[in-house]
Amino acid sequence: MWQRCIGILLVGGLLAACSTEPRMPEPSFDDIDAAGKAAREMQAALKDELMAAMQAGGPEAAIAVCSERAPAIARQVSDQSGYEVSRTALRTRNDANAPDAWEAEGLEIFEAALASGASPSVMERSEIVRTEEGGAEFRWMKPILMDEPCTVCHGTQVNEGLQASIASLYPDDEATGFEVGQLRGAFSVRKVVELE
Ligand code: HEC
Repeated sequence: MWQRCIGILLVGGLLAACSTEPRMPEPSFDDIDAAGKAAREMQAALKDELMAAMQAGGPEAAIAVCSERAPAIARQVSDQSGYEVSRTALRTRNDANAPDAWEAEGLEIFEAALASGASPSVMERSEIVRTEEGGAEFRWMKPILMDEPCTVCHGTQVNEGLQASIASLYPDDEATGFEVGQLRGAFSVRKVVELE
């Protein structure tokens, strides 16, 4: 083997060809399917609670749904499904939702695809990646787009009083100024996997 590596080095300086890193497998359809299901469950539960709170107490009351219920729903769906589900974005309201490198790259890809006219309904990204501990992890993402009801709290003209309430909870809020149809963020799903 070392002779071959040296040979390759001599021929073309292709150091990468000598890498001992094995190629990662493709994600399984079962994982992709389960990730989509977990994200849809979180989306549906969140939407139901958000709409109910908006109707009952207006946007001020609905902020509590986003700040308290969103993480709780994420935990519940994660516990039930065995897949860890969360939301992330390039511009976040809550720093805790800030993307890691893999998520940031995915968000950039979605952003570029949207800008070039691709349909968000077909956008999905999945990969098996190596973890820092040397294990492997299944990762999956799907875009979250701005819809009309979202503009109340993430739009270009958020009511002043509401903006103040948001700022008191989230002093580092970067999640306003979005228009309907823009990329607001993404659902992100992950699960540790055993490689054979
Ligand atoms: C009543 C106000 C309100 C409405 C309406 C609202 N959000 Fe949010 N949103 C929030 C708050 C508050 C957070 C921070 C939640 C947290 O602490 O995790 C948030 C967080 C998010 C995040 C996570 C990333 C981040 O910025 O921290 C996404 C993605 C998101 N919202 C998308 C949407 C979409 C899409 C809609 C419309 C379907 C929507 N939101 C409607 C208040 C709102």
